[in-house]
Amino acid sequence: MNIRKITSEDAQAYLALQNKLDEETEFRAYEPGERKTTLEEMEKIISSKQEDLILLAIHDDEVVGYIEAERGKFNRNKHSAHINLAVLKKFQGRGIAKLFFNEVERWAKLNHIHRLDLCVFISNTNAINLYNKMGFVKEGTKKDSFLVDGNYVDEFMMAKIIE
Ligand SMILES: CC(C)(COP(=O)(O)OP(=O)(O)OC[C@H]1O[C@@H](n2cnc3c(N)ncnc32)[C@H](O)[C@@H]1OP(=O)(O)O)[C@@H](O)C(=O)NCCC(=O)NCCS
Repeated sequence: MNIRKITSEDAQAYLALQNKLDEETEFRAYEPGERKTTLEEMEKIISSKQEDLILLAIHDDEVVGYIEAERGKFNRNKHSAHINLAVLKKFQGRGIAKLFFNEVERWAKLNHIHRLDLCVFISNTNAINLYNKMGFVKEGTKKDSFLVDGNYVDEFMMAKIIE
């Protein structure tokens, strides 16, 4: 297993990963088939992320997971980054997410980022266990934040201050 930064040459594999994750998990924003991003759009998205960090987990040349830390755009919030991540089902439980978080924290310290935050569906116990383990604390609840299969879903907002 190798973890490395994304480049625009990964656009196709990254798009394929996102589409597969949309099929596999109900804990994220997109419904299966809802994502309409083209390859060209994805290349542009990746090149536009110079201030952010996207890491890929690679297994036998296959992209099997990602983490994105998106930095605030303004002087007043660029000390803060918002995190998204997911790992393909087949590769979960092998420590990939923990490796991702360690790398994100290293990047945060090198780039003067003081706060990491994320949102998680309150039913996503595996992810909440992971975030607790990585030192994130719950800051509040977004009521009825998503509508999944006709049911409203609450999200926890969680954050970690990097000293
Ligand atoms: C949440 C997710 C990213 C974890 O990735 P992962 O690579 O499987 O996690 P790791 O193997 O590094 O495990 C880290 C910790 O997460 C928790 N965890 C992960 N899988 C778990 C499981 N099946 N059951 C219980 N806890 C679990 C545990 O606390 C684990 O620590 P431990 O190994 O010391 O017990 C992954 O399950 C996933 O992609 N889920 C679907 C998409 C998603 O929910 N993304 C997050 C949206 S907010």
